[in-house]
Amino acid sequence: MSSVANDPITAHGGGELVDRNVPAAEREALRAHAAKLPRVTIGARELADLEMLASGAFSPLTGFMGEADYLRSRDDLRLASGAPWSIPITLGVGEAAARELKAGQEIALATEDGARLATLKIAEIYRVDRKHEAEAVFGTADDAHPGAKNVTSTPSWCVAGPVALLAEIPGRTFLEYRLDPRQTRAKFRELGWRRIVAFQTRNPTHRAHEYIQKAALEICDGLLLHPLVGETKGDDVPAAIRMETYKVLLDLYYPQGRAMLSVMPAHMRYGGPREAILHAIIRRNYGCTHFIVGRDHAGVGNYYGTYDAQKIFDRYAPGEIGITTLNFENTFYCGKCGGMASYKTCPHTDADRLLLSGTKVREMLRAGHAPPAEYTRPEIAEILVRAMRNGS
Ligand code: ADX
Repeated sequence: MSSVANDPITAHGGGELVDRNVPAAEREALRAHAAKLPRVTIGARELADLEMLASGAFSPLTGFMGEADYLRSRDDLRLASGAPWSIPITLGVGEAAARELKAGQEIALATEDGARLATLKIAEIYRVDRKHEAEAVFGTADDAHPGAKNVTSTPSWCVAGPVALLAEIPGRTFLEYRLDPRQTRAKFRELGWRRIVAFQTRNPTHRAHEYIQKAALEICDGLLLHPLVGETKGDDVPAAIRMETYKVLLDLYYPQGRAMLSVMPAHMRYGGPREAILHAIIRRNYGCTHFIVGRDHAGVGNYYGTYDAQKIFDRYAPGEIGITTLNFENTFYCGKCGGMASYKTCPHTDADRLLLSGTKVREMLRAGHAPPAEYTRPEIAEILVRAMRNGS
């Protein structure tokens, strides 16, 4: 703990990095105990939340939220303690289960095939209005919004309480790159980085990403390239292909010792501004001092304004979030500038700029054409064309 205390940034909401992993020596005994507890089955998104809770990535949360935290995070973007928090983290259960369970009881959280992974000591059971939640968090309860759809299809009864993880979560991918907050912090210490900028992404990497990462790197010691690898919507590029693009980018276009790739297990909520806050808090817990927020961060469709995810941070007093956001405007390649630029730095017209929509790029890839090198590095375009050809 002392080394974490010397890190350039403390954990969110109190300073201590939460650890809800049962120590190896105690696991056997606890597993025997968990085998006798009532079982609640959880799905992929709850498993991802469980991993985030156990590792401290969701510090100061120690478990699925109780009603006071739920209501205040939904309505006021804070926890009951007052610490900033923008999206409720709940464990929804069906009515029958909710009626059988009681506060004070312990339950085992299990996968669909019955593996008991964690225990949860029930602090309370309460009922919420999922439609209201979706409207508050996403600005819509529309089924066309993937995050809202996930929320409105979650049962309205919530079981709250601290969790204890006693087994490896099955199906974890990219193990070589799956560092938890203690491990990223240790790595930053080893590398001697004090100003560390985190980059959230759910997409393959393009020149705009590289440009804003490198602009940030000019004023930081190191970059944590931190792709989200939990569940994403069906038409997003699969994480395995995205990972290939990130590795190639770091290998070919970044100096050794300045950028580090590690994955983030959370699932994507497509919550735009609200999710930008959560993404920033999470990266603080991983030990980062700076966080990039570009155009339409965590957005989907036309639900959010291009810079809403930047403006929302003004709700908090300076320093409350702790991690410093670095805001970037829409960036692109400009032929007249002869390089990457943004509306902030380029005096030319849209006719001089390479402005490609995601839809247009997908069409090009589907037709087997690589996007221009000014949009995507050729080595990365090759990976994407190949993936498209193979049906990903
Ligand atoms: S996100 O859902 O994870 O935000 P994506 O991977 O596309 O999606 O974006 C990662 C980060 O890069 C976000 O902060 C986003 O705002 C930013 N970004 C993506 N493309 C651009 C661009 N052309 N100009 C400026 N910022 C961008």
